[in-house]
Amino acid sequence: MVAIFEQIVHERRSVRIYDELAPFDGNAVLRSLERAVLSPNSSNLQLWEFYRVHTKQKKDELAGYCLGQKAAKTANELIVVVTRKDKWKERAQFVLNEARKSFPEKKGKKEALIETYYERLIPMLYGNDPLGLMNAFKKTATFGTGVFQPISREVTSDDMRVVVHKSAALAAQTFMLSMKAEGYDSCPMEGFDSKRVKNFLRLPKEAEICMIISVGTAKPEGVYGDRIRVDNKTVIFNI
Ligand SMILES: Cc1cc2nc3c(=O)[nH]c(=O)nc-3n(C[C@H](O)[C@H](O)[C@H](O)COP(=O)(O)O)c2cc1C
Repeated sequence: MVAIFEQIVHERRSVRIYDELAPFDGNAVLRSLERAVLSPNSSNLQLWEFYRVHTKQKKDELAGYCLGQKAAKTANELIVVVTRKDKWKERAQFVLNEARKSFPEKKGKKEALIETYYERLIPMLYGNDPLGLMNAFKKTATFGTGVFQPISREVTSDDMRVVVHKSAALAAQTFMLSMKAEGYDSCPMEGFDSKRVKNFLRLPKEAEICMIISVGTAKPEGVYGDRIRVDNKTVIFNI
């Protein structure tokens, strides 16, 4: 299994030109998205969405919003990975309801902790007021408590934006590795006009585009050169 994973990781490259005539199985995208949603994600809130764009007309329009990149223009399909921080309430309720299904008749400490987590902590982290006053309060309270004990310091609405993008990016990576395992190539893109992409998908203000992933079969010239990485010693440390 390690050998196969090693091969997939090594063969996944960001592809900038696809072979538009190569056969393409859209079901591989569906299977890969179904694997992507199994990715680890913060508090299991699953604050992500995946939009498949594959009709020629819509693909061409979206490729334009990807600043005309060939990686978008020549792809068989474009997948927009979206974060939905605004959906925290319904997702927290869903996860708690699901968890409750396997609670024993007499709730113990573990079950009480799960309830506190989704009913008190998550609203504290994700809930906010229009003026952002809660952010200042949370930051101050965290700083004060943090003087005496270790504490999670990422508590503001901006911090939560980072949190949801981290989780969505993990799903994006699962998706790309899965597409490679299915025999296809991909390219993650952050070069796009986020406002136009959001309008195109009719997304609400709070939704954000994490990245757009193009997929297809690489043309040999679609991989731009050998892989370049800094020496492992400069980024991997033993403490
Ligand atoms: C978040 C993110 C955004 C990226 N955006 C673009 C992009 O807009 N256009 C592009 O051609 N490549 C983009 N890339 C691909 C990187 O340039 C590529 O991963 C990097 O050069 C390493 O090459 P490799 O993926 O072939 O190993 C992006 C990668 C990531 C992770």
